[in-house]
Amino acid sequence: MKLILDKAAAFLAAGTIESYETPVMEAQRVLETGTCAGNDFLGWLHLPSSITDEFVGKINETARTLQENCDAVVVAGIGGSYLGAKAVIAALDDNFSWLKKSNAPRVLFAGNNISEDYLTEMMDYLKDVRFGVINISKSGTTTETALTFRLLKKMCEDMRGKDMARKVIVAVTDAVKGAARTTADKEGYKSFVIPDNVGGRFSVLTPVGLLPIAVAGFDVAQLVRGAQDMEKACDVNVPFKENPCAQYAACRNALYAEGKKIEILVNYQPKLHYVSEWWKQLYGESEGKDGKGIFPASVDFSTDLHSMGQWIQDGERTIFETVISIDRPNTSLTVPQDEQNMDGLNFLAGKHVDEVNHMAELGTQLAHVDGGVPNMRITMPKLDEYNIGQLIYFFEKGCGISGLLINVNPFNQPGVEAYKRNMFALLDKPGYEAESARLKSLLTPNS
Ligand code: PA5
Repeated sequence: MKLILDKAAAFLAAGTIESYETPVMEAQRVLETGTCAGNDFLGWLHLPSSITDEFVGKINETARTLQENCDAVVVAGIGGSYLGAKAVIAALDDNFSWLKKSNAPRVLFAGNNISEDYLTEMMDYLKDVRFGVINISKSGTTTETALTFRLLKKMCEDMRGKDMARKVIVAVTDAVKGAARTTADKEGYKSFVIPDNVGGRFSVLTPVGLLPIAVAGFDVAQLVRGAQDMEKACDVNVPFKENPCAQYAACRNALYAEGKKIEILVNYQPKLHYVSEWWKQLYGESEGKDGKGIFPASVDFSTDLHSMGQWIQDGERTIFETVISIDRPNTSLTVPQDEQNMDGLNFLAGKHVDEVNHMAELGTQLAHVDGGVPNMRITMPKLDEYNIGQLIYFFEKGCGISGLLINVNPFNQPGVEAYKRNMFALLDKPGYEAESARLKSLLTPNS
């Protein structure tokens, strides 16, 4: 993986990125010594290097049990208990896997919304399918996940019997607390623990991400290896200039200080759509507090050049782009020669489709830079487990450093609670009576 900054640095006065060396090194130091805000959630920092082959073996063993006994596995989880697995599986999977036969079970995601249609339609599909469930919740009490799990547990037991349900339902949750733990222990489910000191959005390299990724048939050992190598490349002892996480954090914060308030993560591969969703949660929940934080947005190009392209080229100049660029595809397809050339595309004949995509990418980069949009570029040799593992750790450490640079606690998310309190009050949850009356009066027209 390479980070290329020249087309972002060109928007900053000479020496600006270098001027971040002291604060970035200090942010790394306080992360390393555990003396920063949120220091009870630093388990992600050296997580990759702490993962043993034995642990990966245990993940793979449980994945095999699910693969052998299920044609579909529903991963129930939301936020950090959903997006990492979804991002990695989507990035590695065939774009059309849902239409093709596969040896691995189909991995479905639920518990990440409260849509009656979504749940009903998924259950309608599952009624003819041997399915299992991975119930993922650190707190064990998240409404979206718990509600979904209640429905799926009953359905799985009704369809497959209690004994088989016990075999194909796995819990990933806290070691001792929460309803998911209580249920798992009482029912005798296989379970994995989410370490106390790893927050949801930093948990993709724990069983939260690793188990669903292994069930989908991907090589978890290679994913971890990639993350381990990036952990070394971004170590606190690596000089500032050579440390990609440090450089990324410095550059994006230098742009932010110049009024570039929105970072758009760009990809040219539809498979990376959910990597952007994962990244948005990571940066949004980590930095967006105390009235501060770069707003994380994303686009899928070239698709969105035909929707958001105009705004990016020409709209308010408060944005910068970070492009994830994949050097080569995993497949091979060239443009055929056509005798009649009615579409005028013979100038492309013999070229790989990927070359056309790359020229779209480079042409867009130059156009956007011309239009006043600073551009950072992350290049990866190919989309595979190893390189995705590198990317995950790169963004995690870049995020930890960035949050500390703007003086927020990057590891909490107090703002997420507000909607939950109101939802519980409006649903008449016991204990919320006073709040319930107040909120209902606010919802009454003309009150
Ligand atoms: O990053 C976070 O901490 C959150 O997004 C959580 O992952 C999300 O709210 C789900 O929480 P839980 O795993 O407790 O169900």
